[in-house]
Amino acid sequence: MPNSSGFNIIAVDGGAATGKSSTSRAIAERLNLMHVDTGAHYRTLTYALLDAGADSETPEAIPALLASLALDTTIKGRSALLSINGHVPADADIRSPQVNANVSKFAAIESVREFLFNYQRSQAQVARDHAEFTGLIMEGRDIGSVIFPNADFRFFLFADEATRAARRAKDGQTDSIAERDKLDSQRKAAPLVCPEGAIRVDTGPLPLEGVVEHICGIITA
Ligand code: DC
Repeated sequence: MPNSSGFNIIAVDGGAATGKSSTSRAIAERLNLMHVDTGAHYRTLTYALLDAGADSETPEAIPALLASLALDTTIKGRSALLSINGHVPADADIRSPQVNANVSKFAAIESVREFLFNYQRSQAQVARDHAEFTGLIMEGRDIGSVIFPNADFRFFLFADEATRAARRAKDGQTDSIAERDKLDSQRKAAPLVCPEGAIRVDTGPLPLEGVVEHICGIITA
């Protein structure tokens, strides 16, 4: 861990099903980091907005709906989970076909991203406030480019499409990965990009353990 303060921020970005979550969780476990899945933030918010009757086709109505949502953090093991109005929705609810079909559309709306920006940045302090963590590992699409451009380490994961589709099928999920990636990459607000200077990791040919070993080796060198 080269950071002399003893607290490291690690950004992990990449497209859908490139292995970000499994990899980030395993690294958090090994290096005792607080883990934050920002995809789950967008999913949780999409779930709450759909529940409040929001439609991504009418983004002008969204700020008023967001104003009624209070964000907070619940720590579960090494994961920091987003709660909205005191409630963390079940994983099955934020990974439903309905949320899968809508999340990229809501994530492309400027007011939605602004709403999560400060919250996501504030998670570094949440991790610091918990002495048991040696740092923060945050995964998403814009962590190394927008949320923590000065992170101590920035990784960009990628894999070929067949590998990614097979991973989602193994998880038993209905998900149009290519379509979501297209929306995520082409949107104006914080598009999915490999941040300049980030370390690219091809997760296609390696088993999870291999990817974790490779990244931990870089962090602890
Ligand atoms: O990581 P995931 O597949 O669960 O993410 C769900 C969606 O959330 C993804 O299609 C795009 C959006 N997202 C985003 O726009 N920015 C992030 N930092 C993380 C996710």
